[in-house]
Amino acid sequence: MKMNLKGRNFITLLDFTPEEINYLIDLSARLKKEKYEGTPHKVLSDKNVVLLFQKDSTRTRCAFEVGAMDLGMGVTYLGPNGSQMNKKESVKDTARVLGRFYDGIEFRGYKQEHVETLGEFAGVPVWNGLTDVYHPTQILADFLTIKEVFGKLKGINFTYVGDSRNNMGNSLMIGSAKLGLNFTGVAPKELWPDQELIDECLELTKVSGGTIKFTEDKVEGTTNADAVYTDVWVSMGEPKEVWNTRLAQLAPYQVDAEMMNNAKDTAIFMHCLPAFHGKNTDVGRDIANSFGEKFPKVANGEMEVTDEVVEGKQSVVFQEAENRMHTIKAVMLATLSDKYE
Ligand code: CP
Ligand code: NVA
Repeated sequence: MKMNLKGRNFITLLDFTPEEINYLIDLSARLKKEKYEGTPHKVLSDKNVVLLFQKDSTRTRCAFEVGAMDLGMGVTYLGPNGSQMNKKESVKDTARVLGRFYDGIEFRGYKQEHVETLGEFAGVPVWNGLTDVYHPTQILADFLTIKEVFGKLKGINFTYVGDSRNNMGNSLMIGSAKLGLNFTGVAPKELWPDQELIDECLELTKVSGGTIKFTEDKVEGTTNADAVYTDVWVSMGEPKEVWNTRLAQLAPYQVDAEMMNNAKDTAIFMHCLPAFHGKNTDVGRDIANSFGEKFPKVANGEMEVTDEVVEGKQSVVFQEAENRMHTIKAVMLATLSDKYE
């Protein structure tokens, strides 16, 4: 069913109905197919977008850039040091300036209130490319991937292992609650989301038929899982000092072959990436060298997931990464135009 999302912001999945989210996932699948078939869709060649990044990015930045170019749009990237925003100029003023130049604005940064201010004052669609609270475009890619593998979303047993109150934990729980997946968060209690958000999601499951639960028991939490998902233990913007505590909390929850064996035989492994699964990154090496003795599990740079799982047959992480581009393209297209048939 076609939906009209023209002019809408994409700031949190809480603002969208299940039908609208499913529409965006289906539109992404269509755009992916068209790209594979070589059918161009440069239908927004009269438009320009700006990408504001206060934090680093590979997937999200490139998804917006390639997605915009595939749609025929012009793109400006402003990095952490490239603009006046939040230094000499308020986010509210930035919104009112950029909204007069551009047809859409992407924002990745620290504060959810910043993307909300942009959304309130820009007068053009604003897309959340990650804040400390939510990462909604990632969920569309994750759910497109699940749909490609299993042919459905409703009723999928989805287990998220790790920091369940970070942007990924929050957003995956909301997406699951909206679309009827059975969401299980596996983590020590102090890393579960705010009870208020859990309650809001529990209300949503009354409509979608999904379930939400949390457990500290990784065996219970991964039994019967169709998908096991994890994310980094320390997110962008968190101080280095939290590593020691976070390692103590989450090292027992490293996703390894044993955990995957506990899930269904058909289970997939998912990760938003970037992932620490070896000593082949600066941070991986640094953490391994600084904490390897105290936490032997991370001594070889494997943190939230082992290299064996990332490289194994159940891993769909690169399909998921590719889907960032198709889904972000769909978000831009749907919010900038109602003319795509
Ligand atoms: N998953 C994700 O958002 O990756 P980037 O940080 O590379 O954008
Ligand atoms: N929780 C991670 C997600 C990265 C895509 C972070 O915010 O760093």
